[in-house]
Amino acid sequence: MSKTASKILLANIKDYVGQTVTIDGWIYNLRSSGKINFWQIRDGSGFIQAVLSATDLSEAKWALSQQATQETSVKLSGVVNKHPKKEEYEIVVKDFDFYQISEEWPIGNKDHGIEFLMDNRHLWLRAKRQWAIQRLRNTLILATYNYFNLNNFTKIDSPILTPTAGENTTELFKVKYFDEEAYLSQTGQLYLEAALPAFARVYDFGPTFRAEKSKTRRHLTEFWMMDAEMAFCDLDGNLKIQEELIKFMTMEVLKHNQDELRILERDTSILEQIIKKPFYRLTHAQAVEALQKLGSDIKADEDLGGDDETLLTKQYDAPIFITNYPAKIKAFYMKRNADNQDLAECADLLAPEGYGEIIGGSQREEDYDTLKRRIIDYGLKPENYDWYLDLRKYGSVPHGGFGFGLERIVTWLCGLEHVRESIPFPRTIYRLKP
Ligand code: 4AD
Ligand code: MG
Repeated sequence: MSKTASKILLANIKDYVGQTVTIDGWIYNLRSSGKINFWQIRDGSGFIQAVLSATDLSEAKWALSQQATQETSVKLSGVVNKHPKKEEYEIVVKDFDFYQISEEWPIGNKDHGIEFLMDNRHLWLRAKRQWAIQRLRNTLILATYNYFNLNNFTKIDSPILTPTAGENTTELFKVKYFDEEAYLSQTGQLYLEAALPAFARVYDFGPTFRAEKSKTRRHLTEFWMMDAEMAFCDLDGNLKIQEELIKFMTMEVLKHNQDELRILERDTSILEQIIKKPFYRLTHAQAVEALQKLGSDIKADEDLGGDDETLLTKQYDAPIFITNYPAKIKAFYMKRNADNQDLAECADLLAPEGYGEIIGGSQREEDYDTLKRRIIDYGLKPENYDWYLDLRKYGSVPHGGFGFGLERIVTWLCGLEHVRESIPFPRTIYRLKP
């Protein structure tokens, strides 16, 4: 094969119209019409149709081209053409070599069930839709880093192996840590609070673990959480940052992932207006009232269940902050509302269109005695939280923060049915493989 043509990525194809180029990739689909073969090529950065004809190729290469199968890996060179009207390109192949001729591809165009696809996740990941989802995820990760970097936050990497619970003690993954018991982190929040007096604005971003027994379209046992924590900040200031961050992330997706959104057939009109208007706000009491009117049997002192989140958020075209939850259904570290000690000074952010909770956040209790009492009231052992309590002794300040679940945001922005497609290799109660 000739070595003169420059090797390019399909992401840059529009710069090479009329030129001879070389592309490395995979044949994700193919068809033949007698004297012409059409190969749909994927190179990881984009897609293109390759046209092979008996007249352009040597006799040997034309014969070899008949052996191509779906998912065969290939190097090809040829001339780039642009569709006269559309933003579509094709390459007229002059020469090619196979890296490997693929065995029969097990994922055909047939309607496979989700279990089959998940069992074959290591192969399914190549599907165009799965590619689009992971590309969006990538944009959202970069946008998160960029937002915090632009806003004077310092990234603090919280530990994964921890001696205590950060959230609900019923959802802990226990691991043996030499002679002790340890838990996989549910959130980095408590460690971020420790970093606050040094850095004032901090965040972390990494895998977190919850032994969720529930089989829902929203729950994974391993998921990526970003926690942020701000000193000298009240709940209003906290929500302002959350709203800015989500708008920034949405904007970045609209800027960089139009092709992906098209592949996902995502209605982008909702995403476009999210950037423009303020997020909605409801108190928990107002949400309960609205839900009861919609037919839910939720009680005033209850958390919103998955069905409630679906029901409520279908009524909205932008995210909704739900504030003032009953304190007893929220975590021990949450500060109470100044006007009502039964309510937590907190907010969950719910994504619209039936998606539900994407962020949980609150003001933190900063008083030593009150926090210690809460720890005891919640049935936790103060001696396990001695270092966390210490933070209230040395220059304690009003502070708060929030945490988002990356997969929940990917699921919503991609318009997916289920959170399991939003992460490359999902972990759920029923799935640890591949
Ligand atoms: O609401 P959560 O439990 O809040 C915390 O852990 C706080 N410590 C965060 C903080 O204030 N720094 O979890 C935060 C978010 C949820 O809103 C949700 O998006 C996601 O994490 N999440 C899950 N995502 C997938 N699967 C699960 N099992 C999840 N549990 C929570
Ligand atoms: Mg929550």
